[in-house]
Amino acid sequence: MKTGLYIHLPFCKQKCNYCDFASFAGREFLIDDYLEALSKEASLSPIRTFETLYVGGGTPSVLSAAQLEKLAQIIENRFGPISRFEESTCEANPESLTAEKAAALNKAGFNRVSLGLQSFNDAELKTLGRVHNAADFLRAYQTVRACGFENINVDLIAGLPDQTLESFLCSLDRVLSLRPEHLSVYGLQIEEGTPFFERGVVCDQLLMRRMLEETHVRLTAAGYHHYEISNFALSGREAKHNTHYWNDGDYIGLGSSSASFFCGVRHQNTPDVCEYIRRINAGESAAEFTEKLEGKARAGERLMLALRKLDGAELSAQDEEMFGREIEKHVKSGLLLRVGKKVKLSFEGLFLANEVFCSFVAPFEEE
Ligand SMILES: C[S@@+](CC[C@H](N)C(=O)[O-])C[C@H]1O[C@@H](n2cnc3c(N)ncnc32)[C@H](O)[C@@H]1O
Ligand code: SF4
Repeated sequence: MKTGLYIHLPFCKQKCNYCDFASFAGREFLIDDYLEALSKEASLSPIRTFETLYVGGGTPSVLSAAQLEKLAQIIENRFGPISRFEESTCEANPESLTAEKAAALNKAGFNRVSLGLQSFNDAELKTLGRVHNAADFLRAYQTVRACGFENINVDLIAGLPDQTLESFLCSLDRVLSLRPEHLSVYGLQIEEGTPFFERGVVCDQLLMRRMLEETHVRLTAAGYHHYEISNFALSGREAKHNTHYWNDGDYIGLGSSSASFFCGVRHQNTPDVCEYIRRINAGESAAEFTEKLEGKARAGERLMLALRKLDGAELSAQDEEMFGREIEKHVKSGLLLRVGKKVKLSFEGLFLANEVFCSFVAPFEEE
């Protein structure tokens, strides 16, 4: 069974108005101590051989080129050369990814870069609280390409405040004209505790759905494979690391707030960066909680993850026994389709997936 390695870098230049990821602005002074702690945590990893690597955040490109080299060294010392991973992705933001940093990532052996754009419209980027503009993104994209990266992902968000269908499609078409190997297009989620939530920003769900439907139509016509609810790839460029999550594979997370799932047990590290560093230096576990999912909860989680893929989930006799009634309910309402031994989201279901997923998460209806 393959295993994935995730490393979290919780530093950002500025906190975006919609983001509830465990990331913080103005803490760059902690980066060197954080890297030391990562190195110690890596030395305790129960496994040393991974097929995929994903360095995410936060904003990994906030690190200096020297700090990125140090991070690469930490990975290499414990887990072997980064170039040996089947896929090794580093997230980067347009404002902080310089040619020097892109070259450092390339030299270290990373073979994929994920660039957060969100929108090509400068006014929308400002509303989002992004620190870059469209021109910064274009510069960063060309820099990554010029460095020799042949696998680039671009993130976009649909349904932004005051965003029109035309403006969203303009962003989509401009990204498409660059022909990145992979595109992630998310619908905006208003998360509790974010400035958008506090300001009472509401999302026009109908308009957002039109945007996401048109995304499917345009990207499919342009030769991209819509393989997961929010993800599209040119042939053979489907993200291996994330697909491994959806296939219910094991993964180890390092760093504050990172999650691990290994031998049926899930851990999540503390999101507090100082507390993470303190615990690791004191030889304590950084885990905030640990749980072992079993029985119906475990089977439901596996199904929910698999259903994120457009290819759907293979159903075992046990799945039929546990969830057959719920699955039939969603088949009748047109959100799920049965295809042989598999079940998958219908086109309608792609946009209402959470309604389906509720059936697979505890507490279950009959309880
Ligand atoms: C780990 S996050 C951030 C990566 C990177 N720091 C950046 O900002 O581009 C990965 C992606 O999740 C998406 N995302 C984050 N918060 C979101 C939200 N509230 N609604 C929809 N998409 C969101 C964004 O597209 C973002 O690029
Ligand atoms: S969206 Fe990215 S850059 Fe913005 S706060 Fe979240 S992690 Fe940081």
